[in-house]
Amino acid sequence: MRLGGVILAKSSAAPLKHGDRAVFANISAKVGSIGDNGLGGWYGYRASKSALNMLMRNVAIEYKRSCPRAIVALLHPGTTDTRLSRPFQRNVPPEKLFSVDRTARQLLQVIEKLQESDSGEFFSWDGSRIPW
Ligand SMILES: NC(=O)c1ccc[n+]([C@@H]2O[C@H](COP(=O)([O-])OP(=O)(O)OC[C@H]3O[C@@H](n4cnc5c(N)ncnc54)[C@H](OP(=O)(O)O)[C@@H]3O)[C@@H](O)[C@H]2O)c1
Repeated sequence: MRLGGVILAKSSAAPLKHGDRAVFANISAKVGSIGDNGLGGWYGYRASKSALNMLMRNVAIEYKRSCPRAIVALLHPGTTDTRLSRPFQRNVPPEKLFSVDRTARQLLQVIEKLQESDSGEFFSWDGSRIPW
């Protein structure tokens, strides 16, 4: 399970009790979307990311009470050229395989645009929303 993020969220609540905008961003994955799953497979990975999404949705609700200026976001980075994706890159067209730098830039752009009303939502690297 993805409990590390929840433990971090718990200990971050006190420092986030301030009047400034803050973002608690979590790297999820589109494969964690139940609504988007049209392919099957990857049981453990899909389930663990779906669990992360649910856990962070909970955190977003509780942060609204304890530190309302903090935005909790779930982010899909897109397929990125890392050790994790290397075994699956064969079928990925080159334009859909991002460098780590590009992914970091894209995610920062999404994070910068987040509004308080976006807290607890699931976004792709291009800022579009992903269904649960
Ligand atoms: N790459 C993609 O295409 C892609 C797509 C969608 C989502 N994601 C998500 O993006 C995130 C980063 O993945 P990545 O692609 O950068 O993979 P990666 O290159 O394999 O890096 C994973 C990182 O997590 C660390 N890690 C793994 N297990 C850990 C544990 N139990 N405790 C502490 N640290 C641990 C690893 O540390 P060590 O280096 O010490 O092993 C490594 O730094 C993941 O959440 C992944 O699910 C990636």
